[in-house]
Amino acid sequence: MQHPIAIIGTGLAGLSAARRLHEAGLPVQLFDKSRGSGGRMSSKRSDCGSLDLGAQYFTARDRHFSTAVQHWQAQGWVAPWLPRLYQARQGQLSPSADSQERWVATPRMSALCRQLLGDLPVQFDCRISEVFRGSQHWQLLDSQGNSHGPFSAVIVATPAPQASSLLSAAPSMAAQAASVVMEPTWAVALCFDEPLDTALDACFVQDQALDWMARNQSKPGRETHHEQWILHASSTWSRAHIDLDKTAVIDLLHGEFAELLGCRIPPATLRLAHRWLYSRPAQAHQWGALAQGELGLYACGDWCLSGRVEGAWLSGQEAARKLLEHRDA
Ligand code: FAD
Ligand code: NAI
Repeated sequence: MQHPIAIIGTGLAGLSAARRLHEAGLPVQLFDKSRGSGGRMSSKRSDCGSLDLGAQYFTARDRHFSTAVQHWQAQGWVAPWLPRLYQARQGQLSPSADSQERWVATPRMSALCRQLLGDLPVQFDCRISEVFRGSQHWQLLDSQGNSHGPFSAVIVATPAPQASSLLSAAPSMAAQAASVVMEPTWAVALCFDEPLDTALDACFVQDQALDWMARNQSKPGRETHHEQWILHASSTWSRAHIDLDKTAVIDLLHGEFAELLGCRIPPATLRLAHRWLYSRPAQAHQWGALAQGELGLYACGDWCLSGRVEGAWLSGQEAARKLLEHRDA
């Protein structure tokens, strides 16, 4: 019997690898510490509808990724987003239209990962704490003390700081993952019962606590009567305020948002904050994916490439390609 390949992480990188291996006829078993798939592409369900608190949109610059995006568009999983785009410099707003194609999953960002997961075997609420190799096969241990396996190979598809301890069977890979610094992002969602009197749908902000704000329901497929706004703080501000309590973070970012928009802001009907500890790698890499084929241990994630949705997908493809290549050798 062929033992499955364990994939730790059901963000886009893990699912990209899982799909490619599944299509090659190999059995996979996925694990995620969260209640659902999506990772940093997840969306939070709220009384005001789903809110994209992590990745906002994605661009496709790589040829292979563009082909995948076209396929997803044909399936109705993603759609182009054409926001009325602004920028803010030194507190001044100005229109900043461009011709960049930007994509979002519909009806919420997490839906793409949900579609890619399909009916692949997965265990949620399962935080893997140890990955070790027996005489021939791999075993995983979760934080509840349960053992999982045997597996023929393991792909670690978590953010780099969480990957390094899971890669201890291959010290050089563990050290490579440990060398990646990942920056935090404070995200805030605000919902209102009435539309705000502003022309902008999305805005790149410079030199402020915020670096992004977007009208969530301006994305295609969002069916809500609420006015939903997502605010992201810059890495610098997020790092400096990493331990601030959520109410204070919301107050500060809400205040800056109101000042930037300069229109009347009604009382918010919902305000929430989420702290992404490992939101983006401090720098891009050209690693593709990490691999020790003879051991059967692989690692992928946005941190191996561009630190974006596209990089996560490409890295997952590369981990699967390396695994298949080693198997066929
Ligand atoms: P993740 O999505 O982080 O997936 C890793 C998964 O591993 C998670 O589901 C996690 O729960 C799981 N996991 C971790 N440790 C364990 C463990 N021990 N056991 C089991 N499971 C575990 N990119 C863009 O292209 N455009 C954007 O607009 C954009 N905006 C962003 C805004 C924010 C606030 C953030 C946080 C990110 C943004 N990104 C954006 C980046 C983009 O979201 C990521 O590049 C991409 O989603 C990363 O995918 P991944 O699969 O590599 O990692
Ligand atoms: P992109 O090409 O739209 O944006 C890249 C960057 O270029 C933007 O961050 C912005 O600074 C600038 N820019 C682009 N168009 C602009 C315009 N019309 N006016 C003014 N500035 C403009 O998308 P790409 O390269 O795919 O990047 C994805 C986005 O995801 C970026 O905005 C990036 O900052 C964000 N991101 C955020 C993360 C986080 O943790 N907050 C993590 C990873 C990505």
